[in-house]
Amino acid sequence: MNILVLGSGGREHTFAWKIAQSPLCKNLYVAPGNSGTAAIATNVDISVTDFEAIKTLVLDNNISMVVVGPEDPLVKGIHDFFLKDESLKAVTVIGPQQKAAELEGSKEFAKEFLFRHHIPTAAYQSFTKATVEEGYAFLETLKPPYVLKADGLAAGKGVVILEDLQEAKTELKSMLVDAKFGAASTKVVIEEFLEGIELSCFVLTDGKHYKILPTAKDYKRIGEGDTGLNTGGMGAVSPVPFATEAFLDKIEQRIVKPTIEGFKKDDLPYVGFVFIGLIKVGDDPKVIEYNVRMGDPETEVVLPRIKNDFVELLQAMSNQTLDKIDIEIDERAATTIMLVSGGYPEAYEKGKEITGLNAIEDSIVFHAGASVQNDKIITSGGRVMAITSYGDTYQEAIKKSYQSINKIHFDKMNYRKDIGFDL
Ligand code: AMP
Ligand code: GLY
Repeated sequence: MNILVLGSGGREHTFAWKIAQSPLCKNLYVAPGNSGTAAIATNVDISVTDFEAIKTLVLDNNISMVVVGPEDPLVKGIHDFFLKDESLKAVTVIGPQQKAAELEGSKEFAKEFLFRHHIPTAAYQSFTKATVEEGYAFLETLKPPYVLKADGLAAGKGVVILEDLQEAKTELKSMLVDAKFGAASTKVVIEEFLEGIELSCFVLTDGKHYKILPTAKDYKRIGEGDTGLNTGGMGAVSPVPFATEAFLDKIEQRIVKPTIEGFKKDDLPYVGFVFIGLIKVGDDPKVIEYNVRMGDPETEVVLPRIKNDFVELLQAMSNQTLDKIDIEIDERAATTIMLVSGGYPEAYEKGKEITGLNAIEDSIVFHAGASVQNDKIITSGGRVMAITSYGDTYQEAIKKSYQSINKIHFDKMNYRKDIGFDL
């Protein structure tokens, strides 16, 4: 069959890399893609939210499956768009319908879902411009640090954590009254601060059944020792060493099962990936957030550990036969280190030539913000590429990635030298 992957990051290169290995895939398209996907698929330069252009692409090329990488098209209802269109409704879309994508599109919606289904998470209240005074009063009842979250999508910047009560009140005002995050902060969720170490759990669901994928931990801050500004993710490790059998069992019983049951009870149509952001508080997992897609760079360590034919898995998701599939996991650890443009996550330059990629033997290079220009590979984004390696231990895998990175060069290349430091 012909398959389309939507997106242009390291996550989508990894999807394309895994799909291209399947004998079930005939022609593979990626929109818009990057230099990595260009080498294994046909890139088509259209935006992931231009549904009409995607429709034309799908019909012109007899595409029967669309795998949605990022959240934006899901929150905007791409799955519903396909279902409502007579000529597209037979096409498989991997990704939840709009109603379910609200789990990522609205923090308040997610919190209500979590409480309704008795899934462990931080206590919270939400406020609007009209109730800002009540928001101040609620902050006064909490202990620092204060966690403020813009309700809507804010490109990963909508969560602010502050130590000082007065600063928290000022921030709340700036979000609600001065629309700091635009429409995304029309509502703000204020939540109890949870102390612990974070990890992510990934689940595939066909709406009825589920399969749990390997855990992963990403490193969000730009600086060593988890300091500095938040980024999309600077590296990842899978599996997470502290996620023991007993802890994974708690995640499944207390979080995954009620989540999938909740989709059914609330009539949230979900065929796709569920990314559950967790925090380990003492010995217990609590949910920080749902994302309705895979993580990036977590995908770059999770997918390489799945041995199954990926297209078979995706088909089972759309046919509601996931219960018939056994997920086979590579026992080795996988780690990835993200190479970023100097300056990222603030302003950075683009168009730098990337050299040394041909010399890499012990790692897999997943391209992200990189593109082809005059037969050269150049930087075109903040997160440029993810260097993934396997190892019998995560330490060995990390070492291999750093050895490979020594062979790669571009002007002002930056990366974290301490991925895995806290494990
Ligand atoms: P989110 O966008 O909801 O994942 O939040 C971004 C980051 O803020 C998370 O990865 C956590 O590091 C942190 N965070 C969010 N909520 C909480 C919380 N209730 N307690 C502690 N840290 C949090
Ligand atoms: N790496 C975190 C995310 O994809 O949201």
